[in-house]
Amino acid sequence: MATAAAPNSKLQQSLALYQSTIGKKYVVAITGAALFAFTIGHMLGNLQIYLPNAQEALANYAKLLHASAELLWAVRLGLLACFVLHVVAIAQLYNLNRAARPTAYVKKSPTISTYASRTMYLSGPILFFFVLYHLSHLTTGATHPNFVDMDPYHNLVVGFRQPLPSLFYIIAMSMLGLHLTHGVWSMFHTVGLGHPRYREALRTFATIAAAVISIGNISIPVFILLGIIGKDLV
Ligand code: HEM
Repeated sequence: MATAAAPNSKLQQSLALYQSTIGKKYVVAITGAALFAFTIGHMLGNLQIYLPNAQEALANYAKLLHASAELLWAVRLGLLACFVLHVVAIAQLYNLNRAARPTAYVKKSPTISTYASRTMYLSGPILFFFVLYHLSHLTTGATHPNFVDMDPYHNLVVGFRQPLPSLFYIIAMSMLGLHLTHGVWSMFHTVGLGHPRYREALRTFATIAAAVISIGNISIPVFILLGIIGKDLV
């Protein structure tokens, strides 16, 4: 006799896996990998500001991103889903950890943790607030002093000439670097690549990738603040 839901349906298996700690860790790793890929692509797009025809290149890039409303919204919703799942799974893992150890360690052992790993619960929330501010600044223009639709070069130069927003970007991008240093390494570990033979190489990869993304992004507000980028805009 057929039951309403076959006991071994893929959905049920996935939900059962999600109930487990390792299932939640996989969700954090997979969504983290997607967000990591996005930050690489986004930074490469932003670095077009260093091209000789930066204003035109960035405008064409914006046009390309907005060419298909369906695709744009599919990507936006996919990113939002990754972001929400990433945060929810981390919050659940945090609560499980606390339930398993209601009293904190008398002395935390810094030997097995790094500064990046210890600050994940600081860098994560800062990035959350950064993304909210960032969307209001450079996507909708609500917090931008002089937003021009589909002209990212103008929006970046005018936006980053203001020291306070630039400072916030620099702090947030440093936090992104710290978050990715531990997050990317942790992602490899979760998917079973923590074998001692690869451990150091993967840790080095995570550190270099995080530094490149962080420094690449930070360079933009810094060069604009210094007046090196954007001299052509009065
Ligand atoms: C200095 C660093 C960054 C710069 C200069 C920058 C620049 C921009 C610009 C110009 C846009 C508008 C693109 C357009 O609509 O044409 C944008 C959108 C966006 N940025 Fe960034 N970004 C930076 C860092 C980040 C980071 C770290 C994240 C996420 C972790 C992020 C997430 C987004 C998202 C989700 C959008 C909206 C895309 C859309 O749906 O239209 N950005 N960014």
